[in-house]
Amino acid sequence: MKALKGKIKVPGDKSISHRAIMFGSLAEGTTEVTGFLPGADCLSTIACFRQMGIEIETEDLGDGKIGDQVVVHGKGLHGLSKPSETLYTGNSGTTTRIISGILSGQSFESRLTGDASIEKRPMKRVIEPLSLMGADISSEKNNGCAPLVIRPSKLHGITYDSPVASAQVKSAILLAGLYAKGETTVREPALSRNHTELMLSAFGAKLSSENNEVTVTPGSPLHGQKIRVPGDISSAAYFLTAALITPGSDIVIENVNINPTRAGILEVYKAMGADIELLNERTVSGEAVADLHVEYSFLHGTTVEGALIPALIDELPVIAVAAAYADGKTVVKDASELKVKESNRIDTVTENLRAMGGHIEPTDDGFVIEGGAPLHPTDIKTYDDHRIAMSFYTASLPLGEANILDNPNCAVISYPGFYRDMEGLLQ
Ligand code: S3P
Repeated sequence: MKALKGKIKVPGDKSISHRAIMFGSLAEGTTEVTGFLPGADCLSTIACFRQMGIEIETEDLGDGKIGDQVVVHGKGLHGLSKPSETLYTGNSGTTTRIISGILSGQSFESRLTGDASIEKRPMKRVIEPLSLMGADISSEKNNGCAPLVIRPSKLHGITYDSPVASAQVKSAILLAGLYAKGETTVREPALSRNHTELMLSAFGAKLSSENNEVTVTPGSPLHGQKIRVPGDISSAAYFLTAALITPGSDIVIENVNINPTRAGILEVYKAMGADIELLNERTVSGEAVADLHVEYSFLHGTTVEGALIPALIDELPVIAVAAAYADGKTVVKDASELKVKESNRIDTVTENLRAMGGHIEPTDDGFVIEGGAPLHPTDIKTYDDHRIAMSFYTASLPLGEANILDNPNCAVISYPGFYRDMEGLLQ
């Protein structure tokens, strides 16, 4: 078995990269993005805005690879043009939901859809609040899913008590709010990631937020910005976990976004006894950033629940992996949102952890893992879910023989180069 040693810089944050393209397109002037994540989801966002007439320069690295520098030539809040074809969002829930808020405010009709997974994911959560604002948005098959058809209408501000803590829903409503008459307020049951609030304010929008509530006042134009996208903690999570569970490991993950609405995994791992040190804490483009020093640690079980869940929702599959290597019981609850991600992650984590010999019981809103059962390498069914692929690749690192994934390539959604980067640390 090899340990992880050395330094790694993970690619840019997916949520921040999407927003840099979207807000840059709606801003007046040029937005220069560095550290952009050239993952398939963010490329879907670029493609959609290009379809609406926005010039977006990307760095061509050859072999079909795109670099991390992007320049967006924004045309202002009213500068988008009618796409000649259906907007295609690929596998990206973030693109689909947030864009539907922007499209609701346009003076042209549009149709929006994505891949087979997107056509199954719930869109009612944006259709409902946007309709309350006066949007003419409907599910073409009347099943609450994409394809969505959005026709021009007059929007008005609302106060919306969101039943889910979802940054995609919150962002869709706030962006529609830029086109509405009057103020729009969103209240959430727990605070979801706040990148929209931070970045939209930096672009010049009038926003105020307190606790779980945010209000946008329309009327201010957006202005192009220089944005440095920090590393994605959701990608760092695989290295963090790999080092914690693989004896002899000692690594530094550089330039990681530790925005408190995202960094729940650090709290959970510390509660499990992890040796994680935050170095060089700083602020980059309004976001908290640090380098993470992590060493192999003796982990014990914990309970993950409540308001912390939105701050680690995408990391729960890999937290389940850590829990399987920990001593004692780990309980994850209040996480029924796992069922509506790229796969039903309660089911896909359960199936794959059991295949490895792990002891896990699914529940209606999470799972219970009895750590310490002997694990073995096996065949993994990814269900084309990038986070399941990367979590279960990570899970086999301490075993000295890799799990065989049915679709390793789905990692390109959020982390092209993942396997190469992980292997680069193994010594
Ligand atoms: C995201 C929000 C989260 C997260 C997703 C990215 C975003 O989804 O799971 O990967 O960028 O706003 P929800 O809004 O559905 O919680």
